[in-house]
Amino acid sequence: MTASAVVTARPSVTISGLGPKRDRADPCTVVIFGAMGDLTKRKLMPALYELMKEGLVDPEFAVLGVGRESCDNDDMFRARMRESIEQSDEVHGFDPALWNSLCERLHYTCVELTDGKEYSKIDARLSEIEAKRAPEERNRLFYLAVPPSIFEPIVRNLSESGLAPRTRDAGVRPWVRVVVEKPFGRDLETATNLNQLVLSLFAEHQVFRIDHYLGKETVQNVLVLRFANSIFEPLWNRQWIHHVQITAAEDVGVGTRGRYYEEAGVVRDMFQNHLLQLLALTAMEPPYTMSAGAVRDEKVKVLKSVRWLDSEAIPRNAVRAQYRAGPINGKLVSGYIEEKDVDPSSTTPTYAAVRLYVDNWRWNGVPFYLRSGKRMKKRVSEIAVTFRSPPHLMFGHQTRGVLQPNTLVMRVQPDEGVNLNFEVKVPGAAVALTSEVEVAPVDMDFTYDEVFGETSAPAYETLLLDVMIGEATLFTRSDEVEAAWRVIDPLIHYWEEHPPDQMPTYAAGTWGPREAEELIVKDGVRWREL
Ligand code: BG6
Repeated sequence: MTASAVVTARPSVTISGLGPKRDRADPCTVVIFGAMGDLTKRKLMPALYELMKEGLVDPEFAVLGVGRESCDNDDMFRARMRESIEQSDEVHGFDPALWNSLCERLHYTCVELTDGKEYSKIDARLSEIEAKRAPEERNRLFYLAVPPSIFEPIVRNLSESGLAPRTRDAGVRPWVRVVVEKPFGRDLETATNLNQLVLSLFAEHQVFRIDHYLGKETVQNVLVLRFANSIFEPLWNRQWIHHVQITAAEDVGVGTRGRYYEEAGVVRDMFQNHLLQLLALTAMEPPYTMSAGAVRDEKVKVLKSVRWLDSEAIPRNAVRAQYRAGPINGKLVSGYIEEKDVDPSSTTPTYAAVRLYVDNWRWNGVPFYLRSGKRMKKRVSEIAVTFRSPPHLMFGHQTRGVLQPNTLVMRVQPDEGVNLNFEVKVPGAAVALTSEVEVAPVDMDFTYDEVFGETSAPAYETLLLDVMIGEATLFTRSDEVEAAWRVIDPLIHYWEEHPPDQMPTYAAGTWGPREAEELIVKDGVRWREL
């Protein structure tokens, strides 16, 4: 049984730190390294197109694509970008006039990215593009949409060539910002080394480490839900919360990314960044303002409070598995070890479930169950907060043991929204005859789509605009990246050093392996069936 709450949108307020605070971004040139790559085509170009449609970028904005692939002039790049915009489901309708206007701002240069001497070509193209702008408007946004193996040479070359000088503070004009894609390092040590290198070349305010989950509407909504309402926060602690489940399930497999995934696995790919960010936002203390510094300070604090998983604790608190062949939406799909570029004897996990504890005053003893996997039953990400059961039930035997504890669910995707379930009395007079009250769970449900009548902006659109306006709240700071690796590092190393005799598997199209059920059933908890 469900009941729907009527939710209406009232005039909104813009909260500093979570939204644009001005009409549009500064003029700038977006220099994309890896311009012919998948990320540029699928995410960055559609996002730039949409930002332009909404009038959020400056008329003087331009893009310089940089890649290894040679092409004589800008035309091939432009043709590919047009194709990617036309095919993107993140673009709402292709407008030829808008495209023409974007097209003339697109430029390309072919560069061997690891060769510092080649950077003079970028310099020459930038000088042409920037010539029309006043010197203080020659802002540059360098976007590293490249494999992590070449992050280091690129940041060194950017700095040594003088294309991206270090700037004293965020107010200096023209500004220079560098966006780094995940994965940021392979483990705590490599991430720390990379941070040291990057911060020896640039100031922290110039570096934007992307975690695209932070650009998702519902992820941003976690803080608003918690701190712009007074009804949740008094209950948001160990006294009232029984446990928290954080899920990021995907129905897709590794597709063409087998080579990357063999190196990464689900823990590096999803836990170190997306899942721990969801945990941090759910568990952090209220920041004193919504400024990037204050929010990130609180996230770092809570990540540092996550209990260290030592080698004795890992087998009791974490499981891993790999998908095998199975049906998804009526179609049989291959198992992980049959995928392209995957070693048939691979023990790379495509699914993991972990029980974590946050050892601080608020959360002592409350389990946080995190799970993520590829080729699961469906694509769904959510944070579900389950409250403790009432201490005493007086409604008769029918209710005993069957009442659902109240659960507040923040749906990240799809169908972004919030759901709260609670128990109500089923109408009828049975109580007079049987001395029992029939009780049933109902839902109070809010969906963004129904209330605001529009789908939320794709994460990359939000994040690119934030970089252009210098808003860093939704990006991970150096100490935050390291704090997240600290949580995940023991797990990665333990599993790599202790490959299983027999890798646990789950059939594609299911909710994961039996071992994951066993992990939490001892706590009297079941994974939510979504
Ligand atoms: C990426 C991972 O960071 O996130 C991918 O590398 C994963 O493996 C993707 O598929 C999931 O993002 P989304 O936005 O589709 O949930």
